[in-house]
Amino acid sequence: MELIKTVVDMRQVRLRLTEPVGFVPTMGYLHAGHISLIRQAKLDNSSVVVSIFVNPIQFDADEDFDRYPRNLERDLSQLQKEGVDVIFVPSMAEMYPTYFSSRVEVDNITQRLEGASRPKHFSGVTTVVVKLFNIIQPTRAYFGRKDIQQAIVISKMVVDLNMNLIIITLPTVREPDGLAISSRNSYLNTRERKAALVLYQSLMLAKKLWQQGERDTETLRCEMLGFIRKEPLAAIDYISIADPKTLVEREEVKPPTLVSLAVKIGETRLIDNVVLE
Ligand code: PAJ
Repeated sequence: MELIKTVVDMRQVRLRLTEPVGFVPTMGYLHAGHISLIRQAKLDNSSVVVSIFVNPIQFDADEDFDRYPRNLERDLSQLQKEGVDVIFVPSMAEMYPTYFSSRVEVDNITQRLEGASRPKHFSGVTTVVVKLFNIIQPTRAYFGRKDIQQAIVISKMVVDLNMNLIIITLPTVREPDGLAISSRNSYLNTRERKAALVLYQSLMLAKKLWQQGERDTETLRCEMLGFIRKEPLAAIDYISIADPKTLVEREEVKPPTLVSLAVKIGETRLIDNVVLE
C-alpha cells in the first residue's frame, strides 16, 4: 500500500497502476459504509485508490469542518487490511493553493433537499470530486446511496460534462437497528443515539404505508412528521418525497419515488433515504 500526499506523486503512481482502476473518495474516519464501497471496488477492478480529504469548501460557514472527526492512523490500518493499493491524502495547500478560484456547478437538482439547507455544499462537492477525478483518472468511482443526492448530482455532472468514467452507487450500510452508519454518528450521546432511530423508522413507516396501498405523498409526509415529532430531541429540517431523477416533489407515489429527510438530533444533523420501487 502506498501513501501519496502530492498531486505530482499521485500522477506518477497512476501511470503504473494496472487497469481498470477503481476509486473511492472519502473524508476519512472510515466505517463499514466506506468499507463496503472499497470491497466492491476491489471486486470490480485490478487496482484501487482511496482518497482521504476533509474538503473545507463543502462545509457552510456554520457547519462542523473544524470538529469533523479525523483519525488517519486508524484509517490507514483499515485500508491496509482491505488490500487497497494507493491512499491519496493531499494537504489543504495541495488541493487549494493560494489564488485557487474555480468552481464546478451543477444546476437545478443542487438547489433542492440538501442544497436548500446547505447553499454552497454541492458546488464544494462537485469541485473537489472533479479535481480528484482529474488527478486519479479512475475507470470507476464508487458512491454510497446514504448520500443519495450527492450520488445523483455526481452522476449528472459526469453525463453532462462527458467525463470518461463510470459512477457506481451502492446501498446504505446500516447498524443492526437500522441507523444509517455515518461519521457524524460519533457526535451522538447515548440518549441521542436512541433518538436518531426516528429517521430510519419514519422511512420504514412511509414504506409500509406505501406497501399497504397509500399513494398520496401528503398523507405519507404527515404520518412521518407526526411520528418524528413524538421524539423531543428531533428537529426536522425537511422531508421530501420526490422523483429520484429531477428531485421535484411528487403529489402521488409512483415507482421509483425517493423519500429522504434531514433531521437534527440535538446539535447533530443526520440524513437518510429510501427509494420506493
Ligand atoms: P464521506 O462522508 O466520507 O463519504 C464517502 C463515501 O461513503 C460517500 O460516497 C458516501 O455516500 C459513502 N457512505 C457514507 N456512509 C455510508 C453508508 N452508511 N453506507 C454506504 N455508503 C456510505 O461523501 C463524502 O465523504 C464527500 O462528500 C466526498 C464525496 C468524499 C467529497 O468530499
